[in-house]
Amino acid sequence: MSKNWWKESARDIPKIIVEPPGPRSQSMHSSTVRYMRGLSSQVKLFPVCFSEGYGITLTDVDGNRYLDFSSGIYVTSLGHSHPKVSEAVASWAKKLMNCHDFTTPVKDKLLQKIAEVLPGNLNGVQFYCDGSTAVEAGLRAARAITGRHEFISCFRDFHGKTMGAVSLARMARGDVLAYGPTRAPGFYLVPRPDPYRPTFTKPDGRIDTDQYIRFYEQFIQEGTAGNVAAFVLEPTQGWGGSIFPPDDFFPKLKKLCQNHSILLFADEILAGMGRTGEWMCMSHWNVIPDIVTFGKSFGNGFPITAVVVREENAEALDNISASSSYGGNPMGCAAALACLEVIEEEDILENVRTVGAFFQKRMSQMKEEHPIIGDVKGKGFLLGIELVKDKSTKEPFEEAGKLVYQKAFRKGLAWIPAGHILRMSPPLIMDEVYAEMGLSMIEEAIGEVEREYGYR
Ligand SMILES: Cc1ncc(COP(=O)(O)O)c(C=O)c1O
Repeated sequence: MSKNWWKESARDIPKIIVEPPGPRSQSMHSSTVRYMRGLSSQVKLFPVCFSEGYGITLTDVDGNRYLDFSSGIYVTSLGHSHPKVSEAVASWAKKLMNCHDFTTPVKDKLLQKIAEVLPGNLNGVQFYCDGSTAVEAGLRAARAITGRHEFISCFRDFHGKTMGAVSLARMARGDVLAYGPTRAPGFYLVPRPDPYRPTFTKPDGRIDTDQYIRFYEQFIQEGTAGNVAAFVLEPTQGWGGSIFPPDDFFPKLKKLCQNHSILLFADEILAGMGRTGEWMCMSHWNVIPDIVTFGKSFGNGFPITAVVVREENAEALDNISASSSYGGNPMGCAAALACLEVIEEEDILENVRTVGAFFQKRMSQMKEEHPIIGDVKGKGFLLGIELVKDKSTKEPFEEAGKLVYQKAFRKGLAWIPAGHILRMSPPLIMDEVYAEMGLSMIEEAIGEVEREYGYR
């Protein structure tokens, strides 16, 4: 199959035939919200109703066709309805949907493939169906491996909505608040380095990684009971705004963890499986974690996730049962296996690196030209544009974030809002033509907002 399978379907996008959200979208949204509660801000800010997705396009029920800059939510990374992935799921849906955790030919093949593509000896695997449960399994694995029970995680990282995952995250987050009054005992949070908004700086104002590491060292001594099982982090903050740490951070953190016999647990549910141009995002820093989780892109929309540990610790997984109603079902394994094969066959990692470099160059130009763009960030196809009221004070410009999101959506860009940091997660198959198309729509929307607020 040609790697250009999606191009014909993208020929005439964006195609807006009625101002979105159009009448059919609005009517279906009203009908849905009669029963469904707790929708995300993404839907509330732009209540469109989608009926189809193919490649890099999404179509709504009014017939509008959009360029996709969201991949669902970092999920359909190989494009909507990738023929090979859809075919793989359909073929197992017809012959065997579930046989608990018995092995199947497709599960066996997937396990071999995971061991082949991941670096080092990351090959102890369990399968689950969403990111949160894979993270929970990672926490259980860390306890089983170390016999310890405390965890350190970071401000503004996100790990899911089950109780362990919630305990790793910020409690004041709207949809987590309800789980209060507080996190589970033994879970602690520390600041993580954000090069644009550093907590610890050198005298010249640049971020100082060593101070973060010294603080963690002190925190382990003074703030914990000395029973830390794992340091749990996203390699890059996804929900937090596509924020990557400085390049020396993970190598230094790994050393600190080793000095204290603490496991390094990289939650790659969002960043892993090609999104940043590597199978595993941590490979950018040549750091192999002890525990890693994959999801989202792993099944390209079919719910399959995984927790993986190093071979020398894999025996400990025998103490945390892999039994799950749906985890590792044949359809999920078929989807994930097809995804890993497509990443190789279509040279996806190379595309992400090349087009990712184009994104960075183009976004840097935008930053120079626009008074409200404070920072542009990301790697590969995990991207962010931070909006500020004033470049010198860096005051976040939340209102502008919402407006830019809505305006670009109206022009035909389906994407993700996140307060004042505009997040982009295009399908990894996208070429420079469509990367430019999407960025132009965003730039136009930013220009309009700047005029409305008197910046131009
Ligand atoms: C880094 C990370 N971990 C875990 C999760 C939770 O995944 P899920 O929503 O599939 O439970 C998410 C979801 O966005 C995530 O970004």
